Amino acid sequence: MKKITVTTPLLPSLDKLTPYLEDIWQRKWLTNNGHYHQLLEKELGNYLGVEHICLFSNGTLALVAAMQALELKGEVITTPYSFVATSHSVMLNNLTPVFVDVEPETFNLDSAKIEAAITDKTCAILPVHVYGNPCDHQAIQAIADKHDLKVIYDAAHAFGVKKDDCSVLNWGDLSILSFHATKAYSTIEGGAIICHTLEMKQKLDKLKSFGFDSETELSLLGSNAKMNEIQAAFGLASLELIDDAIEKRQEVAKMYREALNKVSGLRCLDDIDGVRHNYSYFPIIIDEKEYGLSRDELYEKLHKNNVLARRYFYPLITEFEFYKNNNKTIQHSNDVAKSISDNVICLPMHHELDNKDIDVIMELIK
Ligand SMILES: Cc1ncc(COP(=O)(O)O)c(C=O)c1O
Repeated sequence: MKKITVTTPLLPSLDKLTPYLEDIWQRKWLTNNGHYHQLLEKELGNYLGVEHICLFSNGTLALVAAMQALELKGEVITTPYSFVATSHSVMLNNLTPVFVDVEPETFNLDSAKIEAAITDKTCAILPVHVYGNPCDHQAIQAIADKHDLKVIYDAAHAFGVKKDDCSVLNWGDLSILSFHATKAYSTIEGGAIICHTLEMKQKLDKLKSFGFDSETELSLLGSNAKMNEIQAAFGLASLELIDDAIEKRQEVAKMYREALNKVSGLRCLDDIDGVRHNYSYFPIIIDEKEYGLSRDELYEKLHKNNVLARRYFYPLITEFEFYKNNNKTIQHSNDVAKSISDNVICLPMHHELDNKDIDVIMELIK
């Protein structure tokens, strides 16, 4: 029986990719701000509607560099309902992650709970646009302005997401993207930082290349987080496919919602007015009493039938042994996040799902 995976990579055809590879072979320039790297920064800037974008080898190192670039010290308020890369990047900078609960509607950091967690050591807020759903950026920015804090958005899921025709990536001081193969748009591994000034872009360019100013001058403790030419070429070829892929995902979301609305005990997230979504994920929340099966029972049933849905995000970051009682973190109550994490399943969501796949999945769920 065919396996229905939770996602599938957006792959450019080999016919499209090959001319890029031939040209790279001709140029013999494989990394370090090559021709295709520069072209991808330009094309992504145009596509996303952002001015300055700095490519990285992955989203995690982009997050680490973003905090370095802002020269943060102290505590960073963030969410436990994310992938561990969010809070790991805080700790990798010797900063203290302060976990604050999320909103029950969007699963994003709850702006109403941020102020109670601010201390004289707080330096920044690191919210996540979970599943690509935009955070309440006006409320977050108002708090940041009041307390003189930086805001870095983990926008790993928010490629192409717009609110009122403006990219959410323009919010805050910096935004981070991931182009991992599982994301709607990918460069196999990859990531980026979106910033507001050329000065910041140049600082980030240094931070991803050991901190060099020139061959003989070094001013920053940078890592090596450069994107190579083959990844950039893959990204350019994929960019031609992304709009169709998002449209296909939107159709899948519509079919899921229509079918799931008839099943009691299951909740899915609706589209938000004025938002151009990217339909990266399709999470559903299971109310065990009403639905009749627990989240884990449904998960097992789907997997037994080759539907490889994922419990994402589970465990909650603060439930991993590494984070539990970790005295290098500060943890506020997270009842909402815990309940979402214990009851969520992400259904298969990608551009290659067909009606038959959706029927199979819906039959199992009903
Ligand atoms: C919310 C979030 N932040 C950060 C990352 C890290 O990105 P990368 O895998 O490109 O390092 C991911 C995912 O993979 C993610 O889901």
